[in-house]
Amino acid sequence: MGHGTPDNMNWAGLLQSLLVVVHVQQIMCGSVWFSIPEEQEPGILAGSLRKHFPPPYQLLTQEYLWMDKNTGNLYTTEQKTDREALCPEETKAQECFILHNAVVGPSGDLIQFPVIIEDINDNAPHFENSEIHLRVSEDVTVGTSFLLDDRAQDRDAGDNGELHYHLEDSDGVFSLKVEADGPGVMLVVQTTLDRETKDMYQMALVATDCGSDPLSATATLIITVTDVNDNCPSFSSDSPRSVSVPGDSLKNTLVAQVRATDPDSGPNAAIVYSLSPKVSERAKKLFSLDSLTGYIRLTQDLQSDDSEELLLKVLASGHHCPPADTQVTVSVLPKAKQELTIKIGFIAEHQNQTMVLPENQPPTVLAVLELEGDSSLKGSSLAIESEVPFTLSPQNGKYLLSTSKPLDYEMKSEHHISVVVQGRSAEGSVIAPSRHVIRVMVADVNDNAPHFLQSHYQLEVEENNKPGMSLLQVSATDADSGYNGMVTYGLGKHTSTIFNIDPVTGRLSVSASLDREQQGAHALTVFARDSGSPPLESAATVSIRVLDQNDNAPAFLTPHFIFFIPENAPPFAHVGGLVITDPDEGENGNTELHVVNNSGPFVMDNTQGTLRTTTNLDREMQDRYEFYLLASDHGHLVTLTSSARITIFVEDINDNQPKVILPSSNSSCLTVSPETIAGTMVTKIYAIDEDSGLNSEITYTAVAPEPSRNSSPFRVDSRSGNITVAQQLLQKDLGMHHLFIVVRDGGRPAPLYTTVWVNLLVNDSMEPCHLDRVPTWTGTPDLVQTPSKAPICEVEDTRSAQLTLLAGLSMMLASTCLLLAAVVLYLKYRRSRLQQNKSGHVEGNEIPLRFKDKYYSDD
Ligand SMILES: *[C@@H]1O[C@H](CO)[C@@H](O)[C@H](O)[C@H]1NC(C)=O
Ligand SMILES: *[C@@H]1O[C@H](CO)[C@@H](O)[C@H](O)[C@H]1NC(C)=O
Ligand SMILES: *[C@@H]1O[C@H](CO)[C@@H](O)[C@H](O)[C@H]1NC(C)=O
Ligand SMILES: *[C@@H]1O[C@H](CO)[C@@H](O)[C@H](O)[C@H]1NC(C)=O
Repeated sequence: MGHGTPDNMNWAGLLQSLLVVVHVQQIMCGSVWFSIPEEQEPGILAGSLRKHFPPPYQLLTQEYLWMDKNTGNLYTTEQKTDREALCPEETKAQECFILHNAVVGPSGDLIQFPVIIEDINDNAPHFENSEIHLRVSEDVTVGTSFLLDDRAQDRDAGDNGELHYHLEDSDGVFSLKVEADGPGVMLVVQTTLDRETKDMYQMALVATDCGSDPLSATATLIITVTDVNDNCPSFSSDSPRSVSVPGDSLKNTLVAQVRATDPDSGPNAAIVYSLSPKVSERAKKLFSLDSLTGYIRLTQDLQSDDSEELLLKVLASGHHCPPADTQVTVSVLPKAKQELTIKIGFIAEHQNQTMVLPENQPPTVLAVLELEGDSSLKGSSLAIESEVPFTLSPQNGKYLLSTSKPLDYEMKSEHHISVVVQGRSAEGSVIAPSRHVIRVMVADVNDNAPHFLQSHYQLEVEENNKPGMSLLQVSATDADSGYNGMVTYGLGKHTSTIFNIDPVTGRLSVSASLDREQQGAHALTVFARDSGSPPLESAATVSIRVLDQNDNAPAFLTPHFIFFIPENAPPFAHVGGLVITDPDEGENGNTELHVVNNSGPFVMDNTQGTLRTTTNLDREMQDRYEFYLLASDHGHLVTLTSSARITIFVEDINDNQPKVILPSSNSSCLTVSPETIAGTMVTKIYAIDEDSGLNSEITYTAVAPEPSRNSSPFRVDSRSGNITVAQQLLQKDLGMHHLFIVVRDGGRPAPLYTTVWVNLLVNDSMEPCHLDRVPTWTGTPDLVQTPSKAPICEVEDTRSAQLTLLAGLSMMLASTCLLLAAVVLYLKYRRSRLQQNKSGHVEGNEIPLRFKDKYYSDD
């Protein structure tokens, strides 16, 4: 870390008034001081003045600390201390402190005390350069050490700032040496180096501080091994040792190239070639050697009629090296005195000395070759040079030229057979060979079928395409030539007629508009046929995937859905499922439903595809809802929609009590003449029920608090509510009659009911009757304890409207039960009457006489 960076300078200016750089011993002597680690959170107790001075306390310097006026306790503030920022680099070894001033005691004495900022290990070591480069010569002796200039810095003090170094991945080649008061970190070479084996070493130099929680930094140490000229040139194994040169070669003809190498690099590897002084004068005259490239060339035209051998000793010299040597033997071949000619007798078809041969023929004799010329040449022979599918076989001093294998026009349509004449002169020396070239043309045969560039074509095309659209172009090649290679295209026999292919270009097109919903993929076979005779053909397949377009609107199963829902259904109850189809693919077929024109409490649950309620329904408020559902898909460019009508009928639930209209009050009273003849209707009870069906079917029943012996002269018709005089009124019937009527609906399983008093006064005065107070019911509170409630009569609750038939059946069953229960009760009644004659019993609509005397506490 460089001291005097801009950051430090700012701090230095700011803190000039706070910091006094004196030796800490002086301050601590006899006075008050505190110490606290740097970077503390706010609210940490740093010390207290109470031990030293009496209260009150007032801190004059407000930075970093605040003081409790009463206790003299010093606490850290939001402003954190950073020791490295507060104290300059030069004072790293000394204590870092801040002088604070305070007024203390009743008399207000001014005191000054230092607070020492202790170091914590909050700074990691740091290398200025992440890479350290060092160059070491390969001939360095083991144990040599190099000073590493790049040392790491650590801003912390004491152990936190003391650094240790080690190497990683040095493989034992290098080690570190750190001398306590030496110049710094030294790199020590541990093994011998060889640039030709390894020219670079890379390792990590790690600096670690000595804090209790050590921090470290790493730099890459790159050591380049520099070259020393410690290798000498040597001739390569592929450097030529013997070469031959024809006797009629011209000046500058390249005879050979010698090659030597030196594993050193740069100028240390430079090689200079030279001819040894021991080389013969003739050789020196005939050949030149390029000192840099090693090329050996002729210095003049050779005019040699005799064979000759020349020895060339070549030296390769490097810098400070003894020269390496090699020897090249150059054989000069004598020049032929007279040209030998070849006479060719053609057997195969030929034109202008060129033979024409159809391909794929079994090996056959093409021509007879005969040598003509200088008879002084003895032992001359013919041979075919280089690799060709032809052979030359001697027969009776002549040679038969034949094919060695069938020829392939497509591989090579023209062959040049180079026939070499080798001979010896009369003296027996080898003479330079002469060459003769025979041409053979291969004629094409239709032996290649067309070949498709791809055996399988794949393409994707959007549906609803324009008819006649071009899809792709197939292409096949035929290695044959002419008609044998002329390709035409066609489609397989069973291909749909909507696909066409241009026989010449191979362009495939579709004449109709494709519909993915009808067929999403098409597989075609295309043929390529050549025009040879017989023609050859091959096939390729084409797969066409039809891509979807949003061309289908969602479709409802029916344009009108009718649902039934009971009125007591809870909010978010399932009303009905809606099936919708969209044959398109993916998002184009992904539909969503919405309720439109909705005044009712309904919402579409698209996750389940069901219609749900949003609140409670009340049939008595609204018994039917009409609205539309809109289905829309998520088409990419266009969204298609369709709608369906929804009708929802709210089914009734017995949720309304009957309401009594007549009589208007429990205290209404009517005078009945004792002369009224039996069967006359005297009054009527009338009640309404807002429910529908059975739930609103009202029955009226007069009940007595307990079985009574006497029967009432009035009868209540359970259906109409008509109250008639049941029998001729007698003397005993005079007076007030209170009829307690239970008004009940037909709801299942439990009917709802209300009660009402009908008060009738039998008096011949016919004066308007008046009731002071409403009678009080003293009987059982369970007023629906009626025959229809007998356990055997319990009927299952059937809510569904579609099960009305079943409901009817249950009603029949219920009425049967009622009858049965009536019989049972009747028998019970008979028995009880026999047992106790005192208490009376009323059945059905009969009302006990003289209620008043017995059951009303009237005073
Ligand atoms: C539904 O509302 C739209 C306008 O939002 C209207 O055009 C359409 O006629 C309404 N349909 C019915 C059945 O009320
Ligand atoms: C008559 O009194 C009964 C309670 O005894 C009450 O439930 C009923 O509503 C009353 N009827 C009328 C019409 O006030
Ligand atoms: C009840 O009385 C009315 C006349 O107020 C009559 O029309 C009707 O038939 C009577 N109903 C029965 C079941 O007696
Ligand atoms: C009938 O009415 C008259 C006069 O209002 C009354 O004096 C008489 O007691 C009544 N009879 C009965 C049996 O209540």
